[in-house]
Amino acid sequence: MLNKNNFIIDYKNKKPNNFKKYKIGIIGAGNIVENSHLPIYEAEKLNIINIFDTNIEKAKFLKKKYNIINYSNNIEEFFNDKNIDIVDIAVPAEFNHDLFQQALNYNKHILIQKPLSNNIETAKKILTKYRNANIKANVNHQMRYSPSIKAANYLIKKNYFGQIKSFKFYTHRKTDWSIWPWLSKIDYPELRYNSIHYLDSIRCLFGNPNNVKAELIHSRNSILDKPTNIYVTFKYNNGLTGVLDITHDSKKKPDDWTAGFEIIGVNGNCKGIISSMIGNGTSFPDKIKFSYYKNNKLNSYEKELEGRWFSESFAGPMFSLFNAIEFDIQPETNIYDAFETLNLVEEVIKSQD
Ligand SMILES: NC(=O)c1ccc[n+]([C@@H]2O[C@H](COP(=O)([O-])OP(=O)(O)OC[C@H]3O[C@@H](n4cnc5c(N)ncnc54)[C@H](O)[C@@H]3O)[C@@H](O)[C@H]2O)c1
Repeated sequence: MLNKNNFIIDYKNKKPNNFKKYKIGIIGAGNIVENSHLPIYEAEKLNIINIFDTNIEKAKFLKKKYNIINYSNNIEEFFNDKNIDIVDIAVPAEFNHDLFQQALNYNKHILIQKPLSNNIETAKKILTKYRNANIKANVNHQMRYSPSIKAANYLIKKNYFGQIKSFKFYTHRKTDWSIWPWLSKIDYPELRYNSIHYLDSIRCLFGNPNNVKAELIHSRNSILDKPTNIYVTFKYNNGLTGVLDITHDSKKKPDDWTAGFEIIGVNGNCKGIISSMIGNGTSFPDKIKFSYYKNNKLNSYEKELEGRWFSESFAGPMFSLFNAIEFDIQPETNIYDAFETLNLVEEVIKSQD
């Protein structure tokens, strides 16, 4: 029998009490800032004081739409705003290295969008600079801060399922790539910009795999001539195996798309729903359904979860950065960790037949 309510899972991103203390300046006034960063920062009442975009009209537009105190006319003006404590960088990744360096020059803390960089060599440079810097930087790998992934993480870490033997992450949907025209310049656009989230979540839940084998598959919904479907198998030294299976050319009606995961351990299992990837992204809640044995009795639960990958979980990396600054610790998806996720992306590419 499924029990719906009386099991508490600690899955929400906790807002630090001193959240008002940190003044945030944003670089980039594009799609993700308008539709994910700012709506969530506004809902969480974060202190956004400046915004800059090379397209000034976009910065002006978002300043007005979200009541941001200032916009900047150029990057020097932005960095000379002495009130900014945290620079939130959300531009195409080819500009990340330069903007990261400039933020370091001004001794600002940094939240930077994934991927950390558009190539591994530049990512290494960012890593070296971070190692020698006296600031905190977090990377916006917000999928692992999302409700169903955090719920699964909680249950795994509390050992409800015993040793994990296998996992499968999947998404089958139709994706409209046209809103990101710059993706057509990227060699593996889907992997570098979407599946990277799943790879990061897999690393968060199970650690780095010892072996991966990938097929990067062309479909009728590819971007130019680039593959946009992906099938990866994972092997770990402790016997754990896994699969990532993502397709973007579904012929089904949007509400019939599927996105989620299944994790199986020796003592139990869970199935999660990643609601942002189904239908219009808000038709269903994230959910987790799980069972585990205790004293030879099977306990089964199903829980609806609050919030989504898009976009409530965008608060997670920022809260983690606040805590890192406050307690002089590394934020969860810090530069070292994001570099490992980028490395896994490279291993996936190299592992193709
Ligand atoms: N974490 C996520 O889930 C997620 C989702 C979507 C996009 N992203 C990331 O966010 C970044 C931006 O994506 P987007 O969808 O907003 O793209 P977009 O094309 O809609 O917006 C990018 C903006 O950056 C501006 N810009 C470019 N270079 C700049 C520079 N040097 N200085 C200031 N502004 C500059 C452009 O004028 C544009 O307004 C990408 O790196 C992408 O990977 C992350």
